[in-house]
Amino acid sequence: MTEEKDLRGRRAFLKQGGALGGAAALGALLPAAAIGQTGKIRIGLMLPYSGTFAQLGVAIENGIRLAIDEAGGKLGGREVEFVKLDDESDPAKATDNANRLITRDKVDGLVGTVHSGVALAMVRVARETNALLLIPNAGADAATGPLCAPNIFRTSFANGQVGYPMGKVMAERGIKNVVTISWKYAAGEESVAGFKDAFTKGGGKVTKELWLPFPNVEFQPLLTEIASLKPDAVYTFFAGGGAVKFLKDYQAAGLKGKIPLYGAGFLTDGVLDAAGDAAEGIETTLHYADSLDLAKDKTFRLAYAKTFKMQPDVYAVQGYDTGLLLVQAFAKTKGAVDKPALIKAMEGAVIESPRGTWRMSKAHNPIQDLYLRKVVGKENRASGVAVKALDYPPADRCKMPGA
Ligand code: PHB
Repeated sequence: MTEEKDLRGRRAFLKQGGALGGAAALGALLPAAAIGQTGKIRIGLMLPYSGTFAQLGVAIENGIRLAIDEAGGKLGGREVEFVKLDDESDPAKATDNANRLITRDKVDGLVGTVHSGVALAMVRVARETNALLLIPNAGADAATGPLCAPNIFRTSFANGQVGYPMGKVMAERGIKNVVTISWKYAAGEESVAGFKDAFTKGGGKVTKELWLPFPNVEFQPLLTEIASLKPDAVYTFFAGGGAVKFLKDYQAAGLKGKIPLYGAGFLTDGVLDAAGDAAEGIETTLHYADSLDLAKDKTFRLAYAKTFKMQPDVYAVQGYDTGLLLVQAFAKTKGAVDKPALIKAMEGAVIESPRGTWRMSKAHNPIQDLYLRKVVGKENRASGVAVKALDYPPADRCKMPGA
């Protein structure tokens, strides 16, 4: 079993139903050097546990725990201690938060986060400190592009990698004029850019880009504008609580069924219970779907539902794959925090994921299949592969320091 220490204070921690174990409390008092290579491996979890992405953070943590528990609860034979921190999806606090985990808490590896703006700050800190950083969601293209580094890995996707296949599919369907709507920050901008790249290459045109600041959900004026622009279709990037509100508002504005809504798959992933019939029939692209005919996915979904009493989503899968990557890397070093050896192991890792088997690109981002999905009831049902083994943005935008 894994133990944990929580940085938000005991009250918040107890509210979440945890308990501070005696051994973990003792570990927190010992300097890292005294723990050395035989004590617990300390993994920092810098994730959103509040705000519009709170459920995404929980799903990622669940996935990591499941993968490590399935491997006997250890990494390379050593027990694991998680040091948790709520990043609040706030880029302004991100540099201090990451430094706190690395310098004060002396984590052996840092996992985080969901929000691209927060992740970019973590990338800068990881580049300065040479800390091992595993990104279990945030798609900021630069993290595995111009800001890539040997010690930085991503187990999820790049924002453009998810938008691009939707642009290809929509162009192939003969859709001509599209309005885009998203939050104005790295994730929304890069998702729209990836979409536009494929869509315009295929002969489509983006007639208007509509934006809101993150995490604003005052969609009404923009929906009125969409109604008057009457595009052939809408492409969007929203996620978490904001996605639920957008789906409901789109329906309430009378646009559902009139102007087809498409998106990066985050629009409908992990939100179907909350969104109800506002999500029915919506098509998206993503590196995961609920109905994949893969043995690994079936066992993962059963184990996840049994352990956490809820259905997994793409965030749970990304957390699980982060756990698998840690398990594989520390197995190679027999539990030693030997950074060059860990990096080599991660670069060569083959991840047998619920999404399908994938490997790291030279830029340390998954090369993976992007599925076309459609919401049917409570499922994001795969209708095919939109693009196979997509490496996008191309890994050559990363010039690996020291390579
Ligand atoms: C991001 O900020 O990169 C991001 C956030 C939530 C998602 C996907 C991407 O679901």
